[in-house]
Amino acid sequence: MKELIDKLYKNTVLSKQEYKYLIENFNPEISEYLFEKSREVRHRYYGHDIYIRGLIEFTNYCKNDCYYCGIRCSNRNAQRYRLSKDDILSCCKEGYELGFRTFVLQGGEDNYFTDDKMTDIISEMKNNYPDCAVTLSIGEKSRESYERFFNAGADRYLLRHETANNEHYSKLHPDKLSPINRKRCLRDLKEIGYQVGCGFMVGSPFQTAENLAEDMIFLKEFRPHMVGIGPFIAQHDTPFRDMPNGTLELTLFMLGLIRLTLPYVLLPSTTALGTIHPLGREKGILAGANVIMPNLSPVSVRKKYMLYDNKICTGDEAAECKNCLQSRMRSIGYNVVTSRGDCKQSAISN
Ligand code: 5AD
Ligand code: FES
Repeated sequence: MKELIDKLYKNTVLSKQEYKYLIENFNPEISEYLFEKSREVRHRYYGHDIYIRGLIEFTNYCKNDCYYCGIRCSNRNAQRYRLSKDDILSCCKEGYELGFRTFVLQGGEDNYFTDDKMTDIISEMKNNYPDCAVTLSIGEKSRESYERFFNAGADRYLLRHETANNEHYSKLHPDKLSPINRKRCLRDLKEIGYQVGCGFMVGSPFQTAENLAEDMIFLKEFRPHMVGIGPFIAQHDTPFRDMPNGTLELTLFMLGLIRLTLPYVLLPSTTALGTIHPLGREKGILAGANVIMPNLSPVSVRKKYMLYDNKICTGDEAAECKNCLQSRMRSIGYNVVTSRGDCKQSAISN
């Protein structure tokens, strides 16, 4: 197995079978070997810097019905909310003062926020904070909508592909959602000029080692600027309520593989990882991640954005979260920096 890790480290392409072999057979010793290499590559590109993104969860209305997600439209127990433009701008103000230079607008697919409303919010954010990046994470839209948001000033877009395998995709989503359209969105976003993030859950129901290997091949081919991954965590009001959660160990192993496969990539150590283990986010950084995404949403709505059970940081003010993360990062020898934190690979062709 070490030979396969060495191959990746030297930037040699692995086949799907080779990724599958690693994913099926990894153990603590090989993980440690992988993390030594993935950390080294991470340090080569990004040193010991940690980029922070201020996450603003501005609506939990969603027209979709993904089987895993707590804000799916059939969940009658979700208390729905929307933030106003003024609410969003005051989150940005607070975030800016705390040193955030990227704001991520994340929400369900909510038709209330028309393209006109979104472009208005984006332009106002860019007007007020021209030195900040605006990232959108609002799901599948038409190419025209993506173009309008980009022209209004949006810099980046996060849209997890969820799984590269079409059959697996159909086990996680109702028929209305198509993996073909999702990949169309990702390609459009890249062509338009966004820095694009895709990603998947680790240990999602029905996922096989082969599926994860297919995700790796998809990443290698698509060459995103960012990759968001985290363990699947069951949410009690969804059809997947009784499904087992993804594991810490496999999520960390996948983070290491992603860092070696895409050396320059922006790789968050996610809240979901911090939810399944108290030191999950620190371990994610030590496996090769370089981004954290503290929550800037008002505390009054935090508990309502419950994609999965037991989500952490739902009672803390933005400043508390930032300080907490800063000291956690220091404790493992990393520094949270105040910068936009763009991807170092300017040469990624769109
Ligand atoms: N567990 C973990 N991650 C989840 N997401 C949605 N529901 C869950 C869950 N139950 C992830 C999806 C989505 C992102 C915003 O959150 O991958 O793209
Ligand atoms: Fe909204 Fe899944 S239910 S994206």
